[in-house]
Amino acid sequence: MKEKIKDLLKEKNAILLAHNYEPPEIQDMADLCGDSLELSIRASRTDAAVIVFCGVHFMAETASILCPDKTVLLPRREAGCEMADMITAEALREKIDQLPPMPVVTYVNSPADVKALSTVCCTSANVVKVAQSLDADEMLMIPDRNLARYAASQTDKKIHLWDGYCPFHDRLTPQEVLAARKAHPEAVFMAHPECRPEILEMADIVTSTSGMIRHAAESTDEEFIVGTEVGILHPIGKANPGKRFYPASEKMLCPDMKRISLDDVVRSLEEMSGEVKVPETIRVPALAAVERMIAIV
Ligand code: 13P
Ligand code: SF4
Repeated sequence: MKEKIKDLLKEKNAILLAHNYEPPEIQDMADLCGDSLELSIRASRTDAAVIVFCGVHFMAETASILCPDKTVLLPRREAGCEMADMITAEALREKIDQLPPMPVVTYVNSPADVKALSTVCCTSANVVKVAQSLDADEMLMIPDRNLARYAASQTDKKIHLWDGYCPFHDRLTPQEVLAARKAHPEAVFMAHPECRPEILEMADIVTSTSGMIRHAAESTDEEFIVGTEVGILHPIGKANPGKRFYPASEKMLCPDMKRISLDDVVRSLEEMSGEVKVPETIRVPALAAVERMIAIV
């Protein structure tokens, strides 16, 4: 199967990008495995004709926004993001009409037509930098209320929230963190900014998925409790042999990140199926918001 995928990638002049939460066998086949920011930057810079995106729909859409001349394949088109589904362009338009004029900062975990109405995008890796870069004291940050509260806590900006959240990060409780700390008293607790504010207050480090992998590699600490989706245990363990990683909660599992199998990758490449293409009327304004973010990083 792996040989077949390698041959198909070569034949179709394709690269395979995988998110840090994807199943291990998918990550191990990828040209790049990373967080949302790294994957979009890599998509924007490739000269391959085809991008096979092993992640969720908004990630493939972002690649399509950045690379209109390339074919972007999402091997299982139904792989979505529950947070991205908590906002629509129509609902955002209503909210914008209710507020005084202010920038709209949009987490990449959002639909393309929502990005098209935005001033700038952000990811978990650069949210504070993006908020700080804006020449405005007030902004609307969508759709993740936890990420927005985190950005507000790290800046002196007034941030208006949208009531969206990731069900798998939002469910981590202080009791689970305390239990993990009790079981592993020497471990450093790293949390993703999609977790609730009370969890982020307990964390030693708050960062993106790749930020966690890098922090573990650079740190002299040996043990880490990981407060994000459990798929991260594969790349973080692989990049840090000899160190120990414990999930903050086994319940932090995103089913959409587990949809794509090696079979799906083969089928998608053979049939060139699962194409994600953002229409030009949405792509052009969405690109402005994504490019503004990439220029800030
Ligand atoms: P990262 O950008 O940190 O990889 O996070 C993406 C995501 O979907 C988190 O749930
Ligand atoms: Fe979306 Fe949460 Fe899954 Fe990330 S983990 S893709 S935010 S539902």
